[in-house]
Amino acid sequence: MPFVNIKKHYIAFGMLLFVLLFLFNSKPAFQCQFSQEPPAYLPTIYGITPTYSRLAQKADLTRLSQTLMLVKNFHWIIIEDSETKTKLVENLLKESGLKYTHLNVKTHKAKHSTASGVEQRNAALDWLKGHLNQIEDKKGVVYFMDDDNTYSLKVFDEMRKIKRVGVWPVGIVGGMRVEMPLVTDGKISGFNAVWKPFRPFPIDMAGFAINSTLFLDYPEAKFSRKVQSGFQESEILKYFTTKEAMEPLAEFCTKVYVWHTRTQHPSILNVKKLKHPPVPDDHIEV
Ligand SMILES: *[C@@H]1O[C@H](CO)[C@@H](O)[C@H](O)[C@H]1NC(C)=O
Repeated sequence: MPFVNIKKHYIAFGMLLFVLLFLFNSKPAFQCQFSQEPPAYLPTIYGITPTYSRLAQKADLTRLSQTLMLVKNFHWIIIEDSETKTKLVENLLKESGLKYTHLNVKTHKAKHSTASGVEQRNAALDWLKGHLNQIEDKKGVVYFMDDDNTYSLKVFDEMRKIKRVGVWPVGIVGGMRVEMPLVTDGKISGFNAVWKPFRPFPIDMAGFAINSTLFLDYPEAKFSRKVQSGFQESEILKYFTTKEAMEPLAEFCTKVYVWHTRTQHPSILNVKKLKHPPVPDDHIEV
């Protein structure tokens, strides 16, 4: 009998050891599910997007918002050109789950001015300055985004490297396959633009981003309705940088990570003129 007891003890001890070894070995894998590595610090990207009502608006905003859902630490400032905020944009933003600020300001266009988005982007900058003054971590990047452009996720990775102002190529813009800064020995030496190449900064709005703290350092920096078309980019950039001081990103401006795509104006039949008018669809949001 004592022999059997001893054997039982050995078996019990062996099993305990086995269970302990199992727990110990599987601990890191077990832990992984609950506590992840602390994520690397990512400065916030403030995307500023003016928008206006039109038939393709929801399609364009759906495409853009679903890109933005994949961007970490992103804050979308969307400004409607309207007297009041629309339900369409409000619902789209709510349903997106994105961090956003929804603003509106109606453009009262001067007769000769064709500039679009001036009042809307300035309203966003005013909001941003107030916001940054209230929060602890002011680090971030400001990017002016059209609602119908096409953005690779890579462009957001690039702009988080910015110290002051970063630049990169833009595809399909200004009558060219690609508009880009020219880089010599790691510095911007010129631009390849053919449309108004005499502009101080002949680049598209999608081709640069600005350190957000600079807007606190230069609170007077804003867009202007007084400048001729194509000069809005130069108008804002002149406050912060020079050609030589810009930081060439996207592998020294050799990669295209953003495209100035334009959504075609849809042509819809005038149903009143049809002999057999279709079923009414006014109650459907498109
Ligand atoms: C922006 O500038 C501030 C102040 O110089 C700096 O601390 C920060 O690292 C810069 N970059 C970003 C992305 O905020």
